[in-house]
Amino acid sequence: MAAGLIPARSVKETLLSMPSIDHVIQASKAAGSKGMLDEEMLDSLLVEKQEQVAVVARTIAPISEPEPVAPARIHNLDHYRLEDFPMHARDVDAEITVHFDITGNSVTEGKKEDIQSCFKDRLKQIRRLILDKNLPNRPIAVNEAVRQRKQLDNRDSPFTVIGLVNNSRTTKNGHLIFSIEDATGEITCLLSQRDEDDINQEIVHAGLMEDDVIGVSGYFSQTGDLMYVDDIHFPPLGKHQRRVAGEDRAVSAAFISDLHLGSKTFLEPQWHKMIQWFNEEPRAKTVRYLVISGDGVDGVGIYPNQDKELNIPDLFNQYSRLGTMLQDLPDWVEVLLLPGNHDAVRPAEPQPALDPELQTDYTNTMFVGNPCDFSLNGVRVLSYHGVSIMDIVSSLRTVTFERPEAAMKAMIDRRHLAPSWGGKTPLSPEPEDRLVIQEIPDIFVTGHVHGHHMETYKGVNLVHSSTWQDQTNYQRMLGFQPKPCILTVVNLHTHAMAAIPFV
Ligand SMILES: [Fe+2]
Ligand SMILES: [Fe+2]
Repeated sequence: MAAGLIPARSVKETLLSMPSIDHVIQASKAAGSKGMLDEEMLDSLLVEKQEQVAVVARTIAPISEPEPVAPARIHNLDHYRLEDFPMHARDVDAEITVHFDITGNSVTEGKKEDIQSCFKDRLKQIRRLILDKNLPNRPIAVNEAVRQRKQLDNRDSPFTVIGLVNNSRTTKNGHLIFSIEDATGEITCLLSQRDEDDINQEIVHAGLMEDDVIGVSGYFSQTGDLMYVDDIHFPPLGKHQRRVAGEDRAVSAAFISDLHLGSKTFLEPQWHKMIQWFNEEPRAKTVRYLVISGDGVDGVGIYPNQDKELNIPDLFNQYSRLGTMLQDLPDWVEVLLLPGNHDAVRPAEPQPALDPELQTDYTNTMFVGNPCDFSLNGVRVLSYHGVSIMDIVSSLRTVTFERPEAAMKAMIDRRHLAPSWGGKTPLSPEPEDRLVIQEIPDIFVTGHVHGHHMETYKGVNLVHSSTWQDQTNYQRMLGFQPKPCILTVVNLHTHAMAAIPFV
């Protein structure tokens, strides 16, 4: 609407199915189109964008279609030594403990009171974490601060409040302005772009997310209607000490995501290559677990005209085929399967596991919800499909689809998987907000964006699991290059990580 476009009801589904509508807005600006955004206008804007992409491609190289570039082959296996695994995974008992899974535990009725209690609970949980930090002074309630605003206008004696962020935006002069709300009231806050503190500079540049829970320290303006912010407080996180599986339980966990089986772009030959690796490669004898972080199948009716891009048009057949394919894995591999936004479960997160009637053709698979917090041989894993990465990309200037790990770091720093209500991530308002990261995981894994990444951040192993789907027409149109067919493995004893490509 800010771009002068009023979306018609008929294009709602199409817009919601897009990872980002930025390209539509850009195309409308370029074409000078304003007013009712109906199907006809949307089609013409998308065609225009496609032409722009083609023009850009022609400028760089005179080839009509931009050729997808294969991701870099990663062969850093030298540190992933077989000697680190004294036992064959087959001889190590599977120890899976689930700490959180919404399956069978959803209690919300989706009422206004549920939404209120979800937010109240989020504030309570994250507030408690922020209080563990060395704050400059004891936080007070917002209404108490407002009551005392005449005395709280001295920059030398700041006060602190903790609450939810609302309406965060950048002013024309580059300052960050937002509101902080707790159960007692709301204050408008300003973080100056002239602030010399590096952390504040980073926040001014990145922005904040709607419904983030933060603490702010500062003082009131002379007029008492604005709080000048000196410091922003996220929950503290020093270097996390990872739990390890004992030497006698040294096995690997492997991670993939987004197979999109049933779609014509599922990379079946590469899948068979991986199955062959599992059955023949000595290192595969260390892999006790395979975690699939959602979108195992492409689903049916997920976006307009999806049927044209499916080679298995029936949902039951898609799940049945996936179950059969997983049975080709060696018998020592235990699969954990989460749902994603393409799966046949409610889209609102937390999502429950697949229905038992879809689980019939699986013999080696444990079905869990999304997100799921579990331990594998004592190592704590948090697996989340990652739909909220889209909201993080559109909220924080430091995060792009090419760098999903930046979104994962933002989640860890905020201790929340999907902070913003009313964005692209459908959320189920459970009275207890279970998307708060209550326990810092040893391995944090996401998917959904079809990239690949692994690194250790503040002691947490971050894994952005690779997809098994080739570039889709839609991604081609956006100029997005996925990084498919890379298996990530983590040694649960040493936490060594390796990426094994099958492209
Ligand atoms: Fe996906
Ligand atoms: Fe997804």
